[in-house]
Formats: sequence, C-alpha cells, structure tokens
Amino acid sequence: MFKFLTFVFYAVIAKVLKVPLSGSEDVSTDGRYMCLLHDPPNQCGEFCLSALMPLIDHIARHQEQWITCNVKSNETEAKLGKIEAQLTAVKMKSEEQLQALLTKIESQQSAVMETLLQMNRKIMFLRFDRVGSRLFYIEHNLGQNWTSALNSCNGMGGHLASFKSEEEFKDISAKLNMDTSYRLGINDFAEKGLFISVSSGKTAPFLKWKPGEPKYNHIDQHCVTMHYGGMWVDSCSSNIHLICEADDN
Ligand SMILES: *[C@@H]1O[C@H](CO)[C@@H](O)[C@H](O)[C@H]1NC(C)=O
Ligand SMILES: *[C@@H]1O[C@H](CO)[C@@H](O)[C@H](O)[C@H]1NC(C)=O
Repeated sequence: MFKFLTFVFYAVIAKVLKVPLSGSEDVSTDGRYMCLLHDPPNQCGEFCLSALMPLIDHIARHQEQWITCNVKSNETEAKLGKIEAQLTAVKMKSEEQLQALLTKIESQQSAVMETLLQMNRKIMFLRFDRVGSRLFYIEHNLGQNWTSALNSCNGMGGHLASFKSEEEFKDISAKLNMDTSYRLGINDFAEKGLFISVSSGKTAPFLKWKPGEPKYNHIDQHCVTMHYGGMWVDSCSSNIHLICEADDN
C-alpha cells in the first residue's frame, strides 16, 4: 500500500512538472501523460528533491500564511472583543437615556394630570362663588331636607357648609335673602347640644346663635339653619335652601 502511494506521489509530481523521468515509460491517457517509475528512490534522487522544492516552498509559504492568519485571527478576536465592549457601553447608555426619557415623560404626565384635575375642579365648582379664601354655593330656588341637601352638595363635589370664622359668616350673610332660611352642614344627631360639622366630622368651628337658641320645640330639631344674621336649631325634614362649601374642612 505504502509503495503504491509512493509511486503515485512521484507520478503526480512528474505530471505536474511535465518532465518525463529517466527510465520511465510514458503512458498516454486521453493525451495526458503519466510517468511510471520502476524504482522511485533510486531513479529520483537529487532531481526529485529539486522537483519537490517548489512543493516544500509552497508548504512553507502556507505555514507563514497560517501564522499570519492566526495573528490576524487573534487581531480579529481582539477587535471583536472591543466591539462587544463598545456595544455593551452603547446598550448601557441607551438604557440610561431611555430611563431618563421615561422619567421625564412620567413627570410630564403627572403635570398634565395635575392640570386636568385643576381644570376639572374649576369646571366642577363653576357654580360656586369665592367668599374669602373658600368657595361656596348658595341655592336660592330649591328647598331640600337634610338628607337630600347633603346628597346635593356631595354631588357637586362639596359638602353642606359650616363657617370657619365670623368674617366668613358675615360675607355669606350679605349674599342671602333676608326672609329665607338656609340649611348648613351642622347637626347634633349624636348628642343633643353638641354641634358637629359634616365636612370635618368635628365640632363646628363657628356658631352664631339667634337670641334664645338653640331652642328645641320639636323632637326632630337637630339641624342648624341660618336666617337673617343668626343661626337656630331647626327641623331636619323641612325643605329649605342649602349652602355648600367646596373645601373638605
Ligand atoms: C493567538 O491566541 C492564542 C490563544 O489566545 C495563542 O495561543 C496564540 O499563540 C496566539 N497566536 C498569535 C500568533 O499571537
Ligand atoms: C328627603 O327628601 C327626599 C326627596 O324629596 C325624600 O325622598 C326623602 O324621603 C326625604 N327624607 C326625609 C327624612 O324627609
């Protein structure tokens, strides 16, 4: 097997070089030559060596190329590493920028929401008048009992009113009809004589009784109304006009 391979090897070299070797027979197949050696090691000698030189050179060149290739491959690998690091940096930066953008959008969104809320509040309290630092709504037409009045004010986004000070009370009084009673958000349901504001759930901050009040003529009298510059404790079921406040205190 080895001998055969050796033979083929020399034969191929001879064919490549297109030189007939001494002592060989040329066999032509389809016009191509094939050199046959009977004793290649002896027949070949120096000639073969010189014939092999191009092949050896060729291999050497390839070896150089391979080393160059290896160096290049290492360079490429280094470059790839660098690119990867750059990509990571870019990715991190993009993520940071995206996060910053999201934060900005979120803050803008909450600013818009705040504006919308304010606008909504303004629209909601369009029927309210500013009295001092607060908004009040005075109903001049419809009379309502306690429950109904409470629901109406809540429906407008407010509460049945109570006053914080004498000043507020006077400012409101100036806007009322002299001969009409107005329902306030103050009652003594829980304990007779203890007047609670429905907007705060606490003791009413300001009361201004008419002379002799609070005076209980009926069992139903738990609700405070105001009339002509003073307050009295009145029936909760009677239908009278209401005053709402926009604030929840
Ligand atoms: C290429 O890198 C490999 C391992 O990273 C190393 O073994 C080899 O010697 C390097 N080749 C050259 C030509 O620098
Ligand atoms: C209050 O008024 C409403 C509406 O008119 C009525 O349905 C309700 O029964 C009244 N409640 C009392 C306690 O009078």
